[in-house]
Amino acid sequence: MSQSYWLGLMSGTSMDAVDAVLVSFADQQLDMHASLSLPYPEQLRSRLLNAVRNHADPDELGELDTLTGQHFAQAANELIDASGIDRSSIEAIGSHGQTIRHQPAGSAPFSMQIGCPAIIAEATGLCTVADFRRRDLAAGGQGAPLVPAFHQWLFRSPNQDRCILNLGGIANLTWLPADIHQPVIGFDTGPANALVDAWCFDQTGKHYDQNGQWAREGQVNTELLEDLQSDAYFVKPAPKSTGKERFNLDWISTHLQRFDELPAEDVQRTLLQLSVNSILQQLPERSGNLAVYACGGGTFNALLMEELEKGLPAGMLKTTAEIGLDPQWVEPVAFAWLARQTLLGLPGNLPSVTGARGARVLGAIYPA
Ligand SMILES: Nc1ncnc2c1ncn2[C@@H]1O[C@H](COP(=O)(O)OP(=O)(O)O)[C@@H](O)[C@H]1O
Ligand SMILES: [Mg+2]
Repeated sequence: MSQSYWLGLMSGTSMDAVDAVLVSFADQQLDMHASLSLPYPEQLRSRLLNAVRNHADPDELGELDTLTGQHFAQAANELIDASGIDRSSIEAIGSHGQTIRHQPAGSAPFSMQIGCPAIIAEATGLCTVADFRRRDLAAGGQGAPLVPAFHQWLFRSPNQDRCILNLGGIANLTWLPADIHQPVIGFDTGPANALVDAWCFDQTGKHYDQNGQWAREGQVNTELLEDLQSDAYFVKPAPKSTGKERFNLDWISTHLQRFDELPAEDVQRTLLQLSVNSILQQLPERSGNLAVYACGGGTFNALLMEELEKGLPAGMLKTTAEIGLDPQWVEPVAFAWLARQTLLGLPGNLPSVTGARGARVLGAIYPA
């Protein structure tokens, strides 16, 4: 039988780039064939950031849906061309899209991803599966996080309690107990890069603090840190999920009102410590048998990784590279896998994670 491939497309809350992968799956095994990251053009990125911050009108949202769809399609086409893989051997694309708003609570819960899947299907000639979150929401779940089912499939081990820690704009963790009778737990812990990125951009015009260098020049202000840590989200029980609608520059400004004398680098350092502390405090367990495997762009922030390491027993923090998957590509691979689940008629959510009434086949299918 000839090899079949799946293409995954993901852009998270950082809104930095579309991460694209071409993979194949066998039993419990994953093979990576090609990957690339296609940064958003500056203008599109700033329009997307604006849409998230200030409520965009329907015209702006419609245009962004189209432009983002075109950008996702371009990432897919560039990846296919660079890989040399025959297009006809690609089963489908799984596209997460770009989240504009995630509001899983309240009287009318919703989660909105844009990046028109019809455009992706048309421009690539490939079946495209998208809109993964809304079925889980319709079934009473958070619609997030959706990656834990994939983490379970690829990373669960009977010999080791594992925590997969994704350090995107938001941090989400998946708890994979070695004991097969224990449920998988997964939730968003709060900010990973979202706040340090927002503050860095506001103060320096750079989208992120390269390797945490700027934060290193500052000192943690314990009073501010305690204030930040008092946000109710951090003690809310799971299931829970969050996004930039909560943890953003306005959130920082509100907390800074009493601290207007504080040097900007101290604020940066304190925001980084908030990410570290909130993650560590919400780890479900710290058994001697536990290993924490980090992934996502935050693994490139040396200071973030150092501080996480300090809060854990020696050797407990690793990256997913040690269990076979480059930390940069875990999320897009998850969406390739979720597309496959959909086309196989298999569930993509874990009710123990999202709180949905049951397991559901996720997504909408846009035929080739
Ligand atoms: N060299 C680096 N130094 C510091 N932070 C980095 C570096 N590389 C990436 N990042 C962080 O990772 C983020 C992107 O991570 P990503 O996993 O793509 O997140 P998301 O899923 O939210 O898009 C950037 O916005 C930045 O905060
Ligand atoms: Mg990203």
